[in-house]
Amino acid sequence: MTLRDVVDEDLPIFFEHQRDPEGLRMAAFRSRERDAFMTHWRTKVLRPENVTRTVVVDGVVVGYISCWDQESKRLIGYWIGREHWGKGIATRAVSAFVELVPTRPLHAWVALHNVASIRVLEKCGFRAVLTQEPHHPDEVAEVLMELRST
Ligand SMILES: CC(C)(COP(=O)(O)OP(=O)(O)OC[C@H]1O[C@@H](n2cnc3c(N)ncnc32)[C@H](O)[C@@H]1OP(=O)(O)O)[C@@H](O)C(=O)NCCC(=O)NCCS
Repeated sequence: MTLRDVVDEDLPIFFEHQRDPEGLRMAAFRSRERDAFMTHWRTKVLRPENVTRTVVVDGVVVGYISCWDQESKRLIGYWIGREHWGKGIATRAVSAFVELVPTRPLHAWVALHNVASIRVLEKCGFRAVLTQEPHHPDEVAEVLMELRST
């Protein structure tokens, strides 16, 4: 597993990953249409103040991991394509990424039902610090995971 800078050719792969219904259900996310997705990535995700890396395994692009500032927190997020789940890739990617990004605390908001993602973060040293109940019927409960300096 390696993390490398994102190149334009990665974006259609990430686009397909974020259209997967099972991944969307886990992440409690709404997929973007192609143009909106490309614009979001080129103008927001890939801003220089963020840190975003492509996750590569055996030469294959399997997903991404990113961090950005939001509401006074440095948040991380990631997505691994479904065909690559259950092989420890997210755990290795998050472990490597938190070495790369020295900011502490680091946070991640995760849907409470996303047990796989919560497990990944726990294995990388994050702990649950807050649960937020949904405000609207189309929202889900979320947990704030935190990585503090040791
Ligand atoms: C969540 C996600 C990143 C996990 O990626 P992955 O590469 O399969 O994760 P790993 O293999 O490193 O680890 C998954 C862990 O969760 C566990 N797990 C998986 N499904 C589980 C379930 N239904 N219940 C309990 N644990 C589960 C695995 O057993 C493993 O833990 P273990 O090593 O202790 O056995 C991936 O499914 C994904 O990208 N999903 C869609 C997007 C998303 O949810 N992103 C995160 C938003 S916060």
